[in-house]
Amino acid sequence: MKQRITLGIETSCDETAAAIYHSQKGLLSSVLFSQIALHKEFGGVVPEIASRAQLEKINPIIEEALTAASCTLKDIDVIAVTCKPGLPGSLLVGVCFAKSMAYVLQKPIIGIDHLEGHAFSSFIEYTPPFPHLCITASGGHTALYLIEDYGRYSTLGHTVDDAAGEAFDKISKLLGLGYPGGPIIEQLAGQVNFQDFFEYPRASAAGLNFSFSGLKTAVLYDLVKRGYYDLEKKQFLKPGDLQLQQQVASSLLVCIADIFVEKLAKAYKQYPEIKAVTFVGGVACNRYIRGRIVEWCTQYNLQLFVPSARFCTDNAAMIALVGNYKAEQGKFSTLELDIL
Ligand code: KG4
Ligand code: ZN
Repeated sequence: MKQRITLGIETSCDETAAAIYHSQKGLLSSVLFSQIALHKEFGGVVPEIASRAQLEKINPIIEEALTAASCTLKDIDVIAVTCKPGLPGSLLVGVCFAKSMAYVLQKPIIGIDHLEGHAFSSFIEYTPPFPHLCITASGGHTALYLIEDYGRYSTLGHTVDDAAGEAFDKISKLLGLGYPGGPIIEQLAGQVNFQDFFEYPRASAAGLNFSFSGLKTAVLYDLVKRGYYDLEKKQFLKPGDLQLQQQVASSLLVCIADIFVEKLAKAYKQYPEIKAVTFVGGVACNRYIRGRIVEWCTQYNLQLFVPSARFCTDNAAMIALVGNYKAEQGKFSTLELDIL
């Protein structure tokens, strides 16, 4: 079989990333520039800042990925680029760059769905057996998939409002803590042994869907009720009250972990043929939630696959990997490729 080298480009949000994937040797390089520092003071991603930074970084990041893989542009056989979903301005930078490269180098291009990238990100390091369930939980998305083969998957459920990571980020902001919220919440929760102090409602969306915006409202009104938050001034009244921050963080984390385990259990009842579970996306960096999912999987003799932290969060390795199997399947795009 002919060897294939795929360049993956990811610019859907606030990361500029490039990776080189070899059809037989696997991942050769994966580099990334994170804009977290640029958006920190705003408590979230600012679209225009994001796209401008993408434009600045895309060239050096691709060069760095090529150098790290000991490749040159002429070694590249296929160009895979994230074309949806994401911030339009950010996506356009990657897609325009990839189309120009494909045109000049006369190489095929493949537009990749960022969510398919996450859903298969565990394959960068592992080979989970099919069929399996995949929970993707990040700042922009939360979904549950049934994965039957490379590129063959169905969405069993998704969030009907906020993503799980968004809940961490918004509640972190509410508490006067930093961005991104997930790691800070996890750290605070660990300081009080992941206890459930406030028992926030587990009510999520129907079936296998998720809903996290109600959780944010529940936390907010609970803080108001306890006299810790002023709704009019939109201000946390006890900045620096570590004990309260720890208790909210811990209760929130336990609640979100409960919701994931409950949805998994529900999905397993419907699809008892599954052989494994994968947990991916930025929220999968969370060791407490991972531990809770492992606990659940162990009961049913299912193996859990979680990518390393750098492949849980946005990266181009997952885009290059999906590009590689799509090329294998002959699923190429044309130079008409647009963002969605
Ligand atoms: O996958 P990702 O880098 O970007 C998106 O595609 O959104 O995920 C970022 C999200 C943020 O919302 C962040 O708060 C969350 O992942 N996150 C975590 C942890 N580390 C990052 N959430 C919970 N616990 C963590 N340790
Ligand atoms: Zn993502």
